[in-house]
Formats: sequence, structure tokens, C-alpha cells
Amino acid sequence: MSPILSPDDLDFTSHSEEQTRRLGQRLGALLQPGDVVCLQGPLGSGKTRFVQGVGRGMGVLGIIASPSYTIVNEYHSASGPSLYHIDFYRISETSFLGFDPEECIGGSGVAAVEWPDRAPGHIPPERLWITFRHVDEMKRGLLLQPSGERYRELLLAFRMSAFGV
Ligand SMILES: Nc1ncnc2c1ncn2[C@@H]1O[C@H](COP(=O)(O)OP(=O)(O)OP(=O)(O)O)[C@@H](O)[C@H]1O
Ligand SMILES: [Mg+2]
Repeated sequence: MSPILSPDDLDFTSHSEEQTRRLGQRLGALLQPGDVVCLQGPLGSGKTRFVQGVGRGMGVLGIIASPSYTIVNEYHSASGPSLYHIDFYRISETSFLGFDPEECIGGSGVAAVEWPDRAPGHIPPERLWITFRHVDEMKRGLLLQPSGERYRELLLAFRMSAFGV
């Protein structure tokens, strides 16, 4: 993903684990069936914390933890779409059990994909891409970059919801 900033991008700093979750929750409340959110960044940079918030915002049931031994965990929501939490970190070692790419990414649910750059062939050209970085022990930088009209609109709505501007 290009590090070059465009006017559509949104870059901010989270000051705590809970703030990262709350930001994810704001995004989760805006997500629709078929949406794809990619989360790239080093180990421990907050990707899963953010996805936990996304699940909260979508009203999914269950506690979101990293899918370490399978590629994907599915979380059902009482009223809305399912959340497919996908992690390609160990793509060469993990089981693809339950991973139907067409259903999990861009299907009837929402996809949150950690380590998307390890499986570029599974990533659609239109998506929201979030790059996480360590700032210090408690701070994480999040750069949100949309590709495609749907994601530009989503990011504008997220900006308004999270920051009021
Ligand atoms: N501002 C912050 N936002 C998110 N996590 C934070 C923050 N400050 C500290 N942390 C800590 O950083 C860690 C983030 O863990 P998390 O599992 O979310 O990372 P990850 O990016 O998913 O890593 P992995 O690539 O191993 O899946 C947690 O231990 C959390 O407590
Ligand atoms: Mg993780």
C-alpha cells in the first residue's frame, strides 16, 4: 500500500488499548454486508484490539481473539451481518478449514483481515486499508486509506462519527 497520503486518507493516534477498541466500534457500527477492512502492521500494533471494537460496533456475539490455528473465525450478530475475522499471518501453516474466500471476503458478511499483504490474491481492489504503527508503549498510529467510492464514503462517515468533522 502506498505511503503517499491522499486527501481521502485519515491518520490519527490512539492513546490506549481501549481507545483503539472504541474507534473500531465506531467503524463497526457503519459496516455493511460485503465490506472488507484490511489491517496491516507489526505484531502487537493493535489490529486485533481494533477488530474487537468492530465486533462490538456490529453487535456480534462472542469474544474476539486471534484466529491462530485457522485462517478465519466467524462471529454471528443478532440482527446484522456476520463478522469474518481473518488472519493471514501463518498462512503457510494454518488450516483453511472453514475458509471459503468467496463467502468470507466480500460475501454476505463483513471481513476484517489481519496481515492482508501475506495473501494479496485474496484481497479485493476496493477495501478500507488500515496501517498500524507503534508510536510508544501506549500509543499506536492508525492510517486509514480507502479504495473505491464505498470506502471513501465509509471513511467520511467514520470521520464524522469518531471525530465530529
Ligand atoms: N493504543 C493502543 N492500541 C492498541 N493496543 C495497545 C495500545 N497501547 C498498548 N497496546 C497493547 O498492544 C497490544 C496489541 O495487541 P493486538 O493483539 O491487538 O496486536 P496485533 O496487531 O493484532 O498483533 P498480531 O500481529 O500479533 O496479531 C496489546 O497488548 C495491547 O494491550
Ligand atoms: Mg492480531
